[in-house]
Formats: sequence, C-alpha cells, structure tokens
Amino acid sequence: MRQLGLIPQGAVAIRKGRVVAVGPGEELCEQVRAAETLDAAGRLVMPGFVDPHTHVVWAGERADEFEMRVAGAGYMEIMAAGGGIMNTVRHTRAASVDELVAQSHPRLARMLAHGTTTVEIKTGYGLTIADELKQLQAIRQLQAQTPATLVATFLGAHAVPTEYRGLEEKYVDLVVMDMLPAMAAQEEPPTFCDVFCEEGAFSLEQARRVLEAARALGLGLKIHVDEFKALGGATLAVELGAISADHLVCTPPAEIELLARSETIAVALPGTPFGLGHHDYTPARALIDQGGAVALATDCNPGTCWCENMQFMIALACRTMGMTPAEAISAATINAAYAVGQGDQVGSLELGKRADLILLDVPSYQHLGYRFGTNLVGTVIAGGVAL
Ligand code: NIG
Ligand code: FE
Repeated sequence: MRQLGLIPQGAVAIRKGRVVAVGPGEELCEQVRAAETLDAAGRLVMPGFVDPHTHVVWAGERADEFEMRVAGAGYMEIMAAGGGIMNTVRHTRAASVDELVAQSHPRLARMLAHGTTTVEIKTGYGLTIADELKQLQAIRQLQAQTPATLVATFLGAHAVPTEYRGLEEKYVDLVVMDMLPAMAAQEEPPTFCDVFCEEGAFSLEQARRVLEAARALGLGLKIHVDEFKALGGATLAVELGAISADHLVCTPPAEIELLARSETIAVALPGTPFGLGHHDYTPARALIDQGGAVALATDCNPGTCWCENMQFMIALACRTMGMTPAEAISAATINAAYAVGQGDQVGSLELGKRADLILLDVPSYQHLGYRFGTNLVGTVIAGGVAL
C-alpha cells in the first residue's frame, strides 16, 4: 500500500475508546464538541503498531548462547545440542504463572512505550500440556494488566522436547491428540495455532497434521516457514488457507509467487536474520511487486531476536528488503492487523476502530525508517486512554 492517506493538520475524535471521526482539523473541530482535547502540536499522529509475531512470554535469558554464536556457533547447531529453544523451555517449565507474568510484563511495557498497541503472543516454551496451558494462562493474566490488545497463538509444535528425542511422531501425537483439544476446551482458547516447520524441528507432513487438527477445532492457522531450509511450507500455508506464513527467508521464487497471489499474508521478521548476524532477508520487494501483502513483526524471543521495537523493524525493512517507508508503515500497522485477524478493529485510524494512536515527534512519516535506534514515539493512546 503506497498511499498512507495523510491528512495535513488532521484531527481524530474518540468516544468510549473508539474512533468516531477523522478528518481535517478545522472541519472536525466545527462538527465535534469535545469534552477534552489533546493538542498534537504538529506531531505525526498515526495508528499504534501491531506486532503480529512474538514469543514474548518466556522465563530466563540466553546471553551465553549469543556469545557462542558471535564466536561462530550456529543457531540450529546449539538447538541440536539441547540448547536454543529447549534452554528457554527448561526455564519456562520451572517458572510459575506469576513468575512468567512478572518477567514478561516489562517487555510488554517496553513494546507499548515504543508504540505497539496490539501484540500476538505464542506459547511454545512449555511443550507439555500443563506448561503450554501455563503459558496461555500467563498471556490471559498479562491481558488483565496491560492496555495493549493481546492475541494468543498455540505453538506446541515449536521444538521436539528432549524427552521425546527419537520419538518425534509420538510428540506430534501429543500435540494433536492431547494439547490441541486441551487448548480448544479453554474458556478463552487461543485464536491461532502455529508450527515451526524446519529441518530439526517439524517436517512438512508433521506441520500438516498439526495444522489440519487445529483447523478442525476452529483455530486459525499460522506457520513458521523457510527460516533456514526451504521445506515447502509456504505452499502448505496457501493450501490450508493459513492467515499468515512467517519468516520466508529462503522461500523459492515459485512459492513466493504462489504466496503473493494468495490470501495468506507474508510476515517478514527482519530482526531475526539481523539478530543472528545473517545476510539473507525475506524477499518482500518480490512479494509486493507480485501483489502480495507483507506484514512486519519483531519475532521478539530470547534466542534469535530480543527486540521490542517495531520502529527498528521498519528501519530494517527499508534497508534490507527494499521496502519504502510507506510500505513498511502499512506492513507494521494495517497489514499486521490483518495478519492477526484484527483488520476490522485496529491498524488504521478509521471510524469504529479501537482508538489506538501514537504521537511521534517527527516532521514527516519518512522519519520512520530513516531514523533508528532511538524511540521516536512520544505519546501512546491505547483504547482512547493516553498512557
Ligand atoms: O521464530 N524459529 C523458531 N522460533 C523462534 C526462535 C525461538 C527461540 O530461539 O527461542 C523464531 O525465530
Ligand atoms: Fe517466531
């Protein structure tokens, strides 16, 4: 989307947490008599960012693995040796719900401070029924403590836990026959189911089994594909009607074309190759040029990308994926909203949508992308309330 719908000297009217009017300031001020006004004083006002792919609920950290990677160890190599995702699984299993909430809340607070008002959060660091449910419970408790909107995704198929080494199919059975029904039976089930489809994680056939079972239970589908090895996951995402296919770093051109022509949104996570010190990024330019919808996300997790800032993703997208600032802003707002099924609720400043707004102290929208490393967001308004 190249057109951002800019309104010079614009104004937004909010009632009961929703946008009730948007337009040129003078006109709008004549029509609407506001009980309270906030003067944006020439600042850029735009919708809050939507981060459609995060693993932000976890316990512990992996700075030691970062140091090993800097010294030359590979991410999947560390995982194969029992580190990586399993390292965080051990910490997460040992933590109580309250500890998980206490460790994750500051990360959400930093996301909000950087302008993110809607956050998708995956489970996937429990990998037993009880620990996956504990992560979901932590997401629900966080929702009660944050003005951001949270969207929960079940990622039981994130890694084969150590105790199932050599019994991969048995673990997939556990996900399909026990975890998914337990998740679906919750009073507030997760909205989506995701799978890490990758060599050393879950095969294409295993991903299909999990996603088909999830679909039968009424969950929406997401899938981590082609982060390191191309396994055909983008084609599977399109075939199953997944709402998004995420990562897409080494996806072959024919599958990029297929994805671009489909309804499935391509979620690019440029912080991940950056965080890993890799040089290949999602071919977002090719996706967009062929008519595809691209969204941006942080992938915020303790292994590959501990970054809470969508502004930095925009800056990376412009430099590493050939996206324009306008395309990157759309990818971080409205396209991201559609990638989590919230396109009718957030992601743009339109009538009836949730009043999630951010005020940036910049003279033009291009400063998002152009500048990086400092927080350009001054004021955050979530659900009509200035934080
Ligand atoms: O999206 N690829 C799989 N999952 C995460 C990393 C999780 C971790 O290392 O803890 C990702 O990059
Ligand atoms: Fe991820």
